[in-house]
Amino acid sequence: MEIKDSVALVTGGNRGIGEAFVRAFLAAGAAKVYVGTREVANAQHLVDEDARVVAVQLDVSKPEQIEAAAAKCQDVSILVNNAGQFSMQTLLKAPDLSAARAEMETNYFGPLAMCRAFAPILARHKESAVANVLSAGGIVAVPGMGGYSPSKFAGRAMSTCLRAELAAQNTSVTALIVGSVDTRMASHVEGFKETPATIAEAALKAIRKGATEVDTDFMAVDVRANLARDPAGFELQMRRSLSGERVTTGR
Ligand SMILES: NC(=O)c1ccc[n+]([C@@H]2O[C@H](COP(=O)([O-])OP(=O)(O)OC[C@H]3O[C@@H](n4cnc5c(N)ncnc54)[C@H](OP(=O)(O)O)[C@@H]3O)[C@@H](O)[C@H]2O)c1
Repeated sequence: MEIKDSVALVTGGNRGIGEAFVRAFLAAGAAKVYVGTREVANAQHLVDEDARVVAVQLDVSKPEQIEAAAAKCQDVSILVNNAGQFSMQTLLKAPDLSAARAEMETNYFGPLAMCRAFAPILARHKESAVANVLSAGGIVAVPGMGGYSPSKFAGRAMSTCLRAELAAQNTSVTALIVGSVDTRMASHVEGFKETPATIAEAALKAIRKGATEVDTDFMAVDVRANLARDPAGFELQMRRSLSGERVTTGR
């Protein structure tokens, strides 16, 4: 899929990895980039930077905002489901289900609702693409991320199902497995973190190729290798996240 002259929509595009996607699309010659943002004012710096940027109010947990965004953005050829939520909760010790539900809403039902709303729009193009920003915590279950990790597993399964459903209209679906990245979401994480720009660059390469699933960085590659080498041992290693120890997977 050509990025040049494409029209991209990036959810959660106002900061972090989403903002890096916006800049990468602009640098690669996209004709227009819609920045999905919960507060339009938070994307003003990007609108001011480049005339091809259009801010769109979009909370992916709000169906009426998804419907309005689809009505407004009728020319999208690349959809990036990037918006995400992370709360450091375990499944049993969390006071109630609210954090787990919020993570599922933003990380799974939101992208699903976006794909449902935008599939007919993507179908208008000879070729089009969906990229879902997932996590190394979506290929190995991390008990210390009890709500988040399952939501990213769900996002990965959804990517596979949608890839099959969208193949007939020539829309590729790329699952992006991301390690630890230097954004607000990972501000509590110590140690090496990739730059958001590195992730966006790897993602654009994957979109160009129509890749099905791509590890965007070293940590994601490392997690996949550990999983292949010794799944049971790796599961035990992941248990350490319960006692707050640093684990080798990203958010
Ligand atoms: N950072 C990491 O280490 C890491 C690792 C693996 C995967 N990821 C994934 O990368 C993606 C981007 O995360 P990030 O690291 O860039 O985090 P971030 O800096 O915290 O940015 C999160 C973005 O998502 C938006 N957002 C949150 N809930 C939303 C909702 N319901 N509707 C629309 N937008 C919403 C935020 O909007 P506001 O500005 O309004 O809050 C913000 O723009 C996420 O899917 C995350 O799971 C991150």
